[in-house]
Amino acid sequence: MVFSVLFILILSLCVLCVSVSSAARFNELFHPYWAPDHFTIYGQTVNMKLDKLSGAGFSSKSKYMFGKVNIQIKLVEGDSAGTVTAFYMSSDGPKHHEFDFEFLGNTTGEPYLVQTNVYVNGVGNREQRLKLWFDPTKDFHSYSILWNRNQVVFMVDETPIRVHTNLEHKGIPFPKDQAMAVYSSIWNADDWATQGGRVKTDWTHGPFVASYRGFEIDGCECQTTTVDSYNMRRCSSGDGWWDRPTLSGLNLHQTHELMWVRANHMIYDYCTDTARFPKVPIECEHHRHH
Ligand SMILES: *[C@@H]1O[C@H](CO)[C@@H](O)[C@H](O)[C@H]1NC(C)=O
Repeated sequence: MVFSVLFILILSLCVLCVSVSSAARFNELFHPYWAPDHFTIYGQTVNMKLDKLSGAGFSSKSKYMFGKVNIQIKLVEGDSAGTVTAFYMSSDGPKHHEFDFEFLGNTTGEPYLVQTNVYVNGVGNREQRLKLWFDPTKDFHSYSILWNRNQVVFMVDETPIRVHTNLEHKGIPFPKDQAMAVYSSIWNADDWATQGGRVKTDWTHGPFVASYRGFEIDGCECQTTTVDSYNMRRCSSGDGWWDRPTLSGLNLHQTHELMWVRANHMIYDYCTDTARFPKVPIECEHHRHH
């Protein structure tokens, strides 16, 4: 009896310390940059809401060059039509680089879509869309971006869903010269997000809440806001854990996982959209053979 009470006490203490550390971690790494009054933090969860008045967003306090970011997200439950929740990394300026996860909401019971995109030197237009193999509104799942000099890998629960490979040797620019901050935001995008913009946000079903926990950034943190030669040298030294040869490409298991995702869950790939790109984008030629 005493033993079990003690056990429960220890257990609840542990839950308590996990909760404290997750919220503390959020405050350590991130800050709301848009509508701080649309955030609530309780337990280990950070909630961010969209209502008729405003969306909301948070960003990392620092910028990074290479590494891995990981966040657990539980997307808007029930009717999320018209809403977009994004998790992305981006640098600044007109020639910026950006790696995006965009979660496109839907009416109750219809599937969320995950759109990914990669911007290099200010140019995107590299959308891919997939349906997940689980309901992302029922539970937290981890979404991550691994970035090194050889590849950018988008992962869902550690399963790769997209790889953007460095093809500089083919004359294709690769994002590896600008530090990026990490962002997440939720906003109304009912002009395009759900079923091509046909389904509008139903504000009577708001507020629309996305929940976060498990904030992790393990990368080369830039000590100044601009990437000067010092940071370039430090982050590109080749000594980071992300520079390990085993991380320069997917391993065999991951390659098979990516093939499975592409075969079973992908519903749009800019590489095969010949109506939009009569001339196949140059990196697609090379990606196809991976
Ligand atoms: C929403 O549901 C419809 C019907 O199942 C589906 O065609 C569409 O791809 C889903 N997602 C979005 C974002 O429109």
